[in-house]
Amino acid sequence: MAKINAVITGVGAYVPDYILTNQELSTMVDTSDEWIMTRIGIKERRILKGEGKGSSDLAVESISELLRKTNTSPEEVDLVICATVTPDMQFPATANIISDKLGINNAFGFDINAGCSGFLYALATGTKYVQSGLYKKVIVVGTEKMSSIVDYTDRQTCPIFGDGSGAVMLEPTTEDIGVMDEMLHSAGFGRKHLHQKAGGSCKPSSHETVDAREHYIYQEGRHVFKHAVSNMADVSVEMMQKHGLTNETLDWLVPHQANNRIIEATAERMELPKEKVMINIQKFGNTTSATLPLCLWEWEDELKKGDNIILSAFGAGFTWGAIYLKWGYDGDK
Ligand code: UT7
Repeated sequence: MAKINAVITGVGAYVPDYILTNQELSTMVDTSDEWIMTRIGIKERRILKGEGKGSSDLAVESISELLRKTNTSPEEVDLVICATVTPDMQFPATANIISDKLGINNAFGFDINAGCSGFLYALATGTKYVQSGLYKKVIVVGTEKMSSIVDYTDRQTCPIFGDGSGAVMLEPTTEDIGVMDEMLHSAGFGRKHLHQKAGGSCKPSSHETVDAREHYIYQEGRHVFKHAVSNMADVSVEMMQKHGLTNETLDWLVPHQANNRIIEATAERMELPKEKVMINIQKFGNTTSATLPLCLWEWEDELKKGDNIILSAFGAGFTWGAIYLKWGYDGDK
C-alpha cells in the first residue's frame, strides 16, 4: 500500500483590529520606538479588545477563513488540535470551545501547551493522525490572546507580545509532498527563566497572587535569548543536513517571531539569504503559537507546490524544534 503523507491544503489567519504601537507603549512604560526596534524589531502588535473575548474567538475567525478557502463544511472535520498558552479557561480545552462555536460537531479535539513551539508540536501530532489513515481532515490551529497575560507595567516583556491566530488543514495524500520530518525537543530546566507563577495547582489564584502580579508572564529575557539563538539555529541546521538541503534547495525558512536578532542568527547559521526568510514580527510581534501559521498565511501566494520549507521555533518549557515539509499547492487559495 502507498505511504500516506499529511499535507497542508489551506491556511487561514486572523489578527484583531486594534494596533498597539511603540508610540502608545512608550506612554505606558519607560521605553522607546528606537529601543524596541533595535533590540527586538517590533513596530506594532495587535490586541483583542472586548469583554469576554478569548483565544477561541480569534480561532473562530482564522478557522472560518480556512474552512471557506478549503471548501470544507464544519461537519466534515475529524479533529481540531489547538496550540495555546492562553486557553479561554483552565478547562475545558479551547479546542472544544472553538468546535462548539463553529458547529464542528463530528470531531474530537484537544489542546497542546508547548509555549512558542506549540504549533510545531500540534502539526507533528496532527500529521500522525492523518498518516494513520484514520482521519482525513485535521485542523491545526495556533491561537493566542497574549495580552491577557502580559504585564503592561513590565517594560522587559510588554513590547514583545501580540494577539493573533493561524490555522492549517492537514489532509492525506500519496504524493511525495507534505510533512516530511520533525525534530522536537523539550528541557524543563528552562522553566525557571520563563513561566507564569500563579494560577496553576502549585499556587492557586488568591488575593495575594493577584496583588503580587503573578498571573502575568515572568521572563528572564537574556537567558531565554541565549538558549533560543543556539537551539533554533542548531535544530534548523541539523534538519537541513539530515535531508541534504542547501541554501539553494531550501526555498523558505519559517522562523518563530520572537526577536528579529534570533531570526537573523538562525538564518545566518543556515546561510540563507533574506529573501527566503519569512519575517512579519514588525507588524504582529510575538503571537506565540500563532507566529508560524501567520507567516504561511502572509506568504501563501508566493508558495509553490513542492517548495522545501523548514519551520523552526523555540519557547517556554523550554521547547524547541523544526519541521521539514514540502508545500502542497500553488499560490493563494
Ligand atoms: O518566544 C518565547 C521566547 N522568548 C524569547 O525568545 C525572548 C528572548 N529574549 C529577548 O528577546 C530579549 O532578551 C529581550 C527583548 C527580552 C530583552 O532584550 P535584551 O537585549 O536582552 O535586553 P536586556 O534585558 O539585556 O536589557 C538591556 C538594557 C537594560 O538596561 P541596563 O541594565 O543595561 O541599564 C534594561 O533595563 O535595556 C533595558 N531595557 C529597556 N530599555 C528600554 C529592557 N527593556 C527595555 C525597554 N525599553 N522596553
